[in-house]
Amino acid sequence: MRGEFLPFAAPLLGDEEIQEVVHCLRSGWLTTGHKVKQFEREFGEFIGAKHALAVNSCTAALHLALEAVGVGPGDEVITTPMTFTATAAVIEHLGARPVFADVTAQTLNIDPEQIRRRLSPRTKAILPVHFAGQACDMDAIVDIARGAGVPVIEDAAHAIPTRYNGRMVGTLSDITCFSFYATKNVTTGEGGMVVTDRDDIMERMRLMHLHGMSKDAWKRYTQNGSWSYEILAPGFKYNLTDIAAAIGIHQLRKCQAFHRRRLTIADQYDAADKTATAAVQHARRTNDVALVARVDRRRERVGQRQHLGHRVDDDDVERTGAAGRGEQRHSLAPVERPGALEELGRFAQPRRECRIA
Ligand SMILES: Cc1ncc(COP(=O)(O)O)c(C=O)c1O
Repeated sequence: MRGEFLPFAAPLLGDEEIQEVVHCLRSGWLTTGHKVKQFEREFGEFIGAKHALAVNSCTAALHLALEAVGVGPGDEVITTPMTFTATAAVIEHLGARPVFADVTAQTLNIDPEQIRRRLSPRTKAILPVHFAGQACDMDAIVDIARGAGVPVIEDAAHAIPTRYNGRMVGTLSDITCFSFYATKNVTTGEGGMVVTDRDDIMERMRLMHLHGMSKDAWKRYTQNGSWSYEILAPGFKYNLTDIAAAIGIHQLRKCQAFHRRRLTIADQYDAADKTATAAVQHARRTNDVALVARVDRRRERVGQRQHLGHRVDDDDVERTGAAGRGEQRHSLAPVERPGALEELGRFAQPRRECRIA
């Protein structure tokens, strides 16, 4: 066991990021401006997507994407329970219902066949998640979506840079959402990016990401800008700052090197732990954002598990640090448990009024 605690994900920030942030602070322009525009342009080129919109989280990106394709009250969006709560929460924010399709045991990614079974006349979109950075079976998913006449929105919070059959995630379906949260492959502290090739969808997301205003600050306050603008819709406040983009510009350039380093570390864990499961090994072949340790509860002793060579129990994971490493649990439900998906159907809690005494 390590003497020194190993954090779950420490960001790798170099002098380039620091200098760019300092430059931004000294420039006197802190909010969305030319550094955001540069980050969007370079990100779009990196992925190979026509449009990229920088936002302040992947949650915001998902919310904008669902809104742009018209998800609203009474609709259903098919997604996976093997995800972070944000994926499902944004569906609820729009008054729609997340419908959970189970994952395949081997990859822990959403099973296309389970999606097919959950299609209904109310299905408005399909929202797969590339869990731990391994690409979903996108050909099958896009095929099902096209057949049903609904769009696919990918939650690629873990998936920079992931390739699927040689193509970058971000070029595979209608809309793709990325996260730059502090623990991600590319970070801006907090932040996200949404990419699409569709002009109409980008137009709507660009409008809604900043209050529904016809012009952003860059177009209003700069020398060649004009102060006048209109409010075209009741939008959100989801824009990224230039300070965050200053970090992102350099993180993106190092992204492939970060990825290679993760693969090397993953190989070391693999060599040290011969109990790695198929899911872990599959993740390794595609993309290692996180190492996935699967627990077979039928075989383990109650409350205990073998995790990457260390015996830990669930409380230990919550305390983290028990094995000298930061770890986290990352799913809405243990899907192997019978009835878990049905319980998730009750994800929506009745709204309670906050009374002022
Ligand atoms: C699968 C998945 N989707 C969405 C999110 C939300 O990302 P953000 O924190 O950038 O909003 C996360 C964050 O961890 C995630 O893991």
